[in-house]
Amino acid sequence: MAETKARAACLIGWPAAHSRSPLIHHYWLKTLGIEGGYNIEAVPPEGFAEFVLHLKAHGFVGANVTRPHKEHALALSKPDARARAVGAANTLWYEDGELRSTNTDIEGFVDNLDACVPGWDEATEALVLGAGGASRAVVFGLIERGIKRVHLANRTLERAGALADRFGANVLPVAWDAVADLLPRAKLLVNTTSLGMHGQPPLDLDTGLLPSHAVVADLVYVPLQTPLLAAARARGLKTADGLGMLLHQAVRGFELWFGERPTVTPELRALVEADLTRA
Ligand code: ATR
Repeated sequence: MAETKARAACLIGWPAAHSRSPLIHHYWLKTLGIEGGYNIEAVPPEGFAEFVLHLKAHGFVGANVTRPHKEHALALSKPDARARAVGAANTLWYEDGELRSTNTDIEGFVDNLDACVPGWDEATEALVLGAGGASRAVVFGLIERGIKRVHLANRTLERAGALADRFGANVLPVAWDAVADLLPRAKLLVNTTSLGMHGQPPLDLDTGLLPSHAVVADLVYVPLQTPLLAAARARGLKTADGLGMLLHQAVRGFELWFGERPTVTPELRALVEADLTRA
């Protein structure tokens, strides 16, 4: 059980061993001079409900939730509009004695783009690759920021269709083999698939087909510079990487649990980058 004197939050996952969240939150606790903790709690699916429904009794003021618990966390808490829209919760906290939840991947994605490529939302059309959980957060963020048309390409077309149904007429599902035809009009390209991740096949796509002022975002952060980002940068295109999103999505949870809004600093980024390089 965690210390009760200082506030503590945790990451609940199964498995949860390789998360960078403790590094991020411990950095903020230290630099802001807050006495607090952030633990990793490996909780199997069959133990998740008991753990979350008694989070306070386990010593925690809140939690991050990762695979495979995000949908279950939504069901066990009072979700905000973002968690409901994405269909998954990754952050839990108590408000007026009630267990609340949100999904911070949306602001992680959007805040990182704002930080890396100010003005990115002048794009009217975006092309999003992938239709899993991460894609739902990205698509919600794009629509919220006024992107008029989101082309959603996925290997399994039905999944793109289901996601488009969820978000309405601004989202157009497209077949995976239509990607090359759509690249010339994609002012913003976002990869939410696992392609390009260490150990996965590369994302086979010709960035030379993108417009000259396109912005390219990749959610993959191992490796930090994916082949997609490397090719986009070689062409002089502006980019946003997956590590930036990871850092920005952590801000809100920290604020909710510890009462101060932390900043994503170059020093924090360097710290996590060094850890990723060591892995
Ligand atoms: P996450 O929660 O990170 O989004 P996910 O829900 O497992 O993870 O989604 C993974 C995404 O990567 C999906 O869009 C998946 O496509 P399918 O829906 O067709 O499975 C995509 N993906 C994974 N491997 C792929 C591959 N080899 N080629 C194309 N897309 C791939």
